[in-house]
Amino acid sequence: MKKLLALALLLAACSPGNGAFPGVNPDPEQGAATAFAALPTAEETQQLAQRGKLVFAAEACASCHSNTSDRMGLLGPPMGGVLQRNLGRGEGDALKTRRWLFLHVRDAQRWPGAVTEAEAARGIRMPVHPRIPDEDLKALVEYLCSLQ
Ligand code: HEC
Repeated sequence: MKKLLALALLLAACSPGNGAFPGVNPDPEQGAATAFAALPTAEETQQLAQRGKLVFAAEACASCHSNTSDRMGLLGPPMGGVLQRNLGRGEGDALKTRRWLFLHVRDAQRWPGAVTEAEAARGIRMPVHPRIPDEDLKALVEYLCSLQ
């Protein structure tokens, strides 16, 4: 019995998507609410955006998304103006929209956006990102919000 329990725990720890990644809250909505409990100050925004730019590069987001308003023929929509475009997802509220962006990057199928269905119809899906630590994802979202 004890062995079975140990095995079950081991399996649970190894299976992806259960939030057992370092720095990742197993409940994404809780993670988003914690990361964006309040809007960052202007100074924080600048620091986060700088760090987020590195995450954007490290996670290869640029292979599918430009950081301007020009799609540049890439698979995903351009990231310029992404905050403005999705304000409706957060009921017009910049803080709630940041939480939504956090969740959308985690799992775009579970928290779909305005263009998810249209893009899925073309056979293109946004990959899930279960491993990005909450703090890095917060920085990444702040970087996205800085793009015009
Ligand atoms: C394999 C290509 C691909 C990669 C890699 C990718 N995405 Fe996407 N992304 C898409 C597609 C396709 C969509 C549109 C469908 C959707 O929103 O689900 C999308 C949508 C989005 C949206 C919503 C855009 C809008 O205007 O509604 C955001 C934000 C986003 N991606 C951020 C990211 C970030 C940040 C990364 C890196 C961590 C990333 N994506 C990696 C393909 C990709």
